[in-house]
Amino acid sequence: MATNKELRIGLIGCGFMGRTHSNGYLRVKNFFPEQQYKPVLKAVCARTESKARAFADQWGYESIETDWKKLIARDDIDAVDICTPNDMHAEIAIAAAEAGKMVLCEKPLARTYEESLGMVNAIEKAGVKNTVWYNYRRLPAVTLAKQIIDSGKLGRIFHYRANFLQDWTINANLPQGGEGLWRMDAAVAGSGVTGDLLSHCIDTALWLNGSITTVSAMTETFVKERVHQLTGNVQPVGIDDACSFMCRFKNGSLGLFESTRYARGHKALYTFEINGENASIRWDLHDLNRLEFFDNADQSVLKGWRSIHVTDGDQPYMNRWWVPGLGIGYEHSFVHQVADFMQSLETGGSCSPTFREALETNQVCQAVLDSAAEGAWKTIH
Ligand SMILES: NC(=O)c1ccc[n+]([C@@H]2O[C@H](COP(=O)([O-])OP(=O)(O)OC[C@H]3O[C@@H](n4cnc5c(N)ncnc54)[C@H](O)[C@@H]3O)[C@@H](O)[C@H]2O)c1
Repeated sequence: MATNKELRIGLIGCGFMGRTHSNGYLRVKNFFPEQQYKPVLKAVCARTESKARAFADQWGYESIETDWKKLIARDDIDAVDICTPNDMHAEIAIAAAEAGKMVLCEKPLARTYEESLGMVNAIEKAGVKNTVWYNYRRLPAVTLAKQIIDSGKLGRIFHYRANFLQDWTINANLPQGGEGLWRMDAAVAGSGVTGDLLSHCIDTALWLNGSITTVSAMTETFVKERVHQLTGNVQPVGIDDACSFMCRFKNGSLGLFESTRYARGHKALYTFEINGENASIRWDLHDLNRLEFFDNADQSVLKGWRSIHVTDGDQPYMNRWWVPGLGIGYEHSFVHQVADFMQSLETGGSCSPTFREALETNQVCQAVLDSAAEGAWKTIH
């Protein structure tokens, strides 16, 4: 029988992720009703009162703040959820941890490895519960991929291949920086596609295939100067528009990763494929309920890629939703992460990836950027 233990949330940042997380907090009560802990939308913080008020009214937050430091100082907040651009993650997370709050932080942890390490140290020193929103792990098809790999069905792994392709920055007149375009400003984002998109691919890869030991990367900035929204001046562009890297995994497999915002025709094509001795799997975000699987043990005349519609009750998370055959979407990955976080409070376990686990992704991103800058292989482990 579920008992009601409140987890009072203070959310900072009312953009894209502010909405996906709020939706997660609201939905979890309906779809994971047996859980003891229930999120309570206590306060939301935006820089302007009108924006915070509008968001609070839309999503049901009880109160608003316009200064995140005040939100952290409140006695009626248990957990701080960081949904701001990357340059603010470290300062907020460290302050929240020092105030004894649990911290749920958007990815990537921070702009650089060093900055991320400071966050991990603060969180571990404070001993507070934490998680990082690498939400793709919690799409049922991706979780099923993890279960298949862990069962040993693929045998020895030879190859890991991942892409994350977009096309929204090709226009040379697109400005950089400021509201909505902070991803184009290296001072705020830390990097371009490496921290923004490849971080997702790397997190999934580390989870599915283990640690990366060495990397060799190349990056390119196709448009070298853009008007900065905040200054009005034409300024150099410091982010990587595209990045490709090859790597070696600790398990002996070879990795190939590519990300760009210049792949005309692609909005958010995140794909991965893993080739093992006995079987292969591949997945595509555009068809997120499906996992493709090739099993070399199949009868020779029937051998081929099978397309598994991951919507049945015995597949990950799917007993929570509708009836077999009916798919779920992107937003459900956030509901699942909220549910797993609530569960970790009940069991005393952790909700992966923790800050410590997510640090490894920043470590790989840093090695990738350093490798591209120096034109040399970089060793991580
Ligand atoms: N997990 C994912 O799939 C995923 C997807 C998109 C973004 N993200 C991450 O989430 C974070 C936010 O990205 P987004 O797409 O939501 O950006 P966004 O621009 O849509 O939203 C960021 C919000 O933060 C607000 N903000 C900025 N400074 C603030 C301050 N001092 N106090 C309060 N609010 C402030 C902005 O006004 C904006 O509303 C980034 O770290 C990004 O990398 C993760």
